[in-house]
Amino acid sequence: MARRKKIYEGKAKVLYEGPEPGTLVQYFKDDATAFNAEKHDVVEGKGVLNNRLSEFFMTGLNAIGVPTHFIKRINMREQLIRSVEIIPLEVVVRNVAAGSMSKRLGIEEGTALPRPIIEFYYKDDALGDPLVTEEHIIAFGWASQQDLDDMVALALRVNDFLSGVMMAVGIKLVDFKIEIGRIWENDFMRLIVADEISPDSCRLWDMKTGQKLDKDVFRRDLGNLADAYTEVARRLGVLPSNVTHATKPTLIN
Ligand SMILES: Nc1ncnc2c1ncn2[C@@H]1O[C@H](COP(=O)(O)OP(=O)(O)OP(=O)(O)O)[C@@H](O)[C@H]1O
Ligand SMILES: [Mg+2]
Repeated sequence: MARRKKIYEGKAKVLYEGPEPGTLVQYFKDDATAFNAEKHDVVEGKGVLNNRLSEFFMTGLNAIGVPTHFIKRINMREQLIRSVEIIPLEVVVRNVAAGSMSKRLGIEEGTALPRPIIEFYYKDDALGDPLVTEEHIIAFGWASQQDLDDMVALALRVNDFLSGVMMAVGIKLVDFKIEIGRIWENDFMRLIVADEISPDSCRLWDMKTGQKLDKDVFRRDLGNLADAYTEVARRLGVLPSNVTHATKPTLIN
């Protein structure tokens, strides 16, 4: 690790300088935080699982033409990504009422929404990532109207993809958050999905039992977080090889 220059250390990940210009190495830590880092713990194995799961979702998105920063996984905890200029907004897509939306609007958790609802939160830890409107975003220059249109289109495509992938393994995608960044190619600017897509940034409920398989397990002390993430990874068939059970020995002729 010492061989690389550290660019940024956040709550869940570390960014290092990448091997080529325009690239970064994203390292997934085991730290779990909630409520603007008031609650903190180390959950052994979480970083490994999130590295794998984010690889899985971003690879799938790339394959269906939704551009992401993901280039390739390097090892258990690290992935090579394209360096972007992060738009300082968290883009949240909700299919079912939960969390802050339920609290703020008095809608019971679990209520299906008539259509996916997109919300923007201004990324500022000191302010507690406040909800903002498109008016604020444009007036303060965080993104243009064109950027906003592109962000909504990207977010809805991610929602359709993730909902389908999850539904196939018996999991309901309640909501999720993405971060979006700018890259320049020649004189053109494009928006691509960045950061991570993992159970840290989604709400995932088992379709039969309603069991929570996401970071709410940590936020609400519902059990072992790594077990919940392992279950998601197991269902999706993306468990890292050292966690899967050994297969039966096979005879080699
Ligand atoms: N492709 C990328 N290029 C540049 N920065 C990125 C890229 N993907 C993610 N980031 C940024 O890297 C950081 C990842 O670290 P982490 O998620 O731990 O941060 P954090 O503690 O959530 O803090 P914050 O998101 O408020 O900066 C975030 O700041 C994220 O916005
Ligand atoms: Mg983050």
